[in-house]
This record gives sequence, structure tokens and C-alpha cells, in this order.
Amino acid sequence: MGEPLLTTEKLSNHFGMVCTARDLDLSFEQGVLTSIIGPNGAGKSTLINLLTGHLPVQAGKIRFQGREITRLPIHKRVRLGICRSFQVVNVFPELTVAQNVMIPVLARTGRAWNPIRSLSRETAVTRETEVFLEKVGLQGERDTPATALSHGDLRLLEVGVALAAAPTLLFLDEPTAGMNPVERVRLLDNIRELACEGRTTFVVVEHDMDVVFSLSGRIIVLHRGEVLCDGTPAQVRADAKVREVYLGDDVSDLFRYEEE
Ligand SMILES: Nc1ncnc2c1ncn2[C@@H]1O[C@H](COP(=O)(O)OP(=O)(O)OP(=O)(O)O)[C@@H](O)[C@H]1O
Ligand SMILES: [Mg+2]
Repeated sequence: MGEPLLTTEKLSNHFGMVCTARDLDLSFEQGVLTSIIGPNGAGKSTLINLLTGHLPVQAGKIRFQGREITRLPIHKRVRLGICRSFQVVNVFPELTVAQNVMIPVLARTGRAWNPIRSLSRETAVTRETEVFLEKVGLQGERDTPATALSHGDLRLLEVGVALAAAPTLLFLDEPTAGMNPVERVRLLDNIRELACEGRTTFVVVEHDMDVVFSLSGRIIVLHRGEVLCDGTPAQVRADAKVREVYLGDDVSDLFRYEEE
């Protein structure tokens, strides 16, 4: 087990009568790619929203690298190295692929966007932007406006933008949603490689069990705001409660790996 990067203590959230996080005591370890799975409405996106500051914490605590961040606004968490991508694509459609990636690079190096200054002279920034484009395989689309990208490429761009902020901890909410199989494999290979590099620890919310079981070192199963199971892929696969929740869903997907 690595060092705990982010921990929660009795983290809770309710939307009216619906409980989406109930006294969650979680710990995300450095360098361990963790997937969060669970049926629709389990509270997966809510959890990411709470951890990244997109939703105010109603009860409980969050600590990052030992420091309490429960009430820290989004931008301060980003500055600490906690970033995310969204379940719904969220980039600047009118900017090119390269310009979208360049924004967090510029922000990180303390330089604001300056349309008057020629960006081509910002060679270090340009070079770094190029590296992130390569990491997500979009170097061939650098001058394409985001609005003209395919859905899969848009999602790749979003991951590229998140990576360009050089996060310590990166939450990806359904990164492969709506991708075709080729795009999906490309993104997963990239995530796997980036996770191995070790600079960023990934936490991924995913419905596709192929993705989850091939990527994760650890899987957290959420159900109605509670942790149903938390362990290695093998432990999750063997868990009776998980089987019950997934029964009639894509249970065949989840347990197909037993035969392999
Ligand atoms: N802002 C909100 N206001 C009220 N209810 C909400 C809000 N956001 C989410 N919910 C409800 O909370 C529950 C959990 O939602 P959440 O988005 O966290 O689920 P999820 O596990 O991410 O599901 P999915 O797999 O469909 O993305 C759902 O019943 C949802 O309708
Ligand atoms: Mg969700």
C-alpha cells in the first residue's frame, strides 16, 4: 500500500431524502489506480464532486496529504494538485485542441493568457503543451477547433486538459463514455502508461467492467451512498454483496474474468 494521499472521515451528503454519501471513511493511496463502481445513482459523481469541491460538504471531513481541505474552494484544491474530468465533456469549444491544453499549462506556470503576445514565442509552454497532446494521442489534431472533434477525441482532449494541470490526484468521471472501441483502447492505454509514470494518481469512475478490471489496483463499490466493498479486483469479484447488487445488471461482464 502506498501513502494515503486523500482521506475522508464520515463524509456525508443528502439530496432531500436521498442519501448519496453515508459516513464514508475512505483512503486513496498514492500510486494505486482506484476505480469507483456502482449502479446508476449510487453516489459516484457526488463523491467526486465532494472531494474536488464542486459540492459543499454537509458533514464529515476531507484531508489531502494530511491537511484538512473540507471547505477549500475548487481552485485552491486544484492548486494543491486535485483535479478532475467531468462525466459530460467540458472544454472550450471555440478554442483549438492545443489552446485548450495550453490554458492549464499557462496557469500552472503563473502566466495568464495574453492574446497580444505571440504564443509561438512561448516555446517552453508550446513544447510542454505538445507533450500532453502526445500523451492523449491528439498531436495530429492540435489546430482543430474543439468543436470539430469527434466525441471520443473530445473526451481525450478533456483528459489532456486535466493532465496538463500536472495533478497529483486526478478523478476521471466516466472517461470512456460514448467512445468507440478504438478510442477507448487508446485512452485506456494512455491512462495505464500515465499511471505507471507515477506522477499522477488516478481515481476512475467507470461502468465498463472490462475497463475497471483491466486497469485497477483497487476497486471501491458504492451502493446508495455506502461502501459495499473495497478491495483488489479479485476481492471485489468474490464478494457476495457485490454480486447481489449487480445481479440482473451486467453481472456476466463483472464475473466473466473468473474463467480466465
Ligand atoms: N444536484 C443534485 N440535486 C439533487 N439530487 C441529485 C443531485 N446530484 C445528484 N443527485 C441524485 O443523487 C443520486 C446520486 O447521483 P450521482 O450522480 O452521484 O450518481 P452516480 O453514481 O454518479 O450515477 P451514474 O452512474 O448514473 O452517473 C441520484 O439519485 C441523483 O439523482
Ligand atoms: Mg455519475
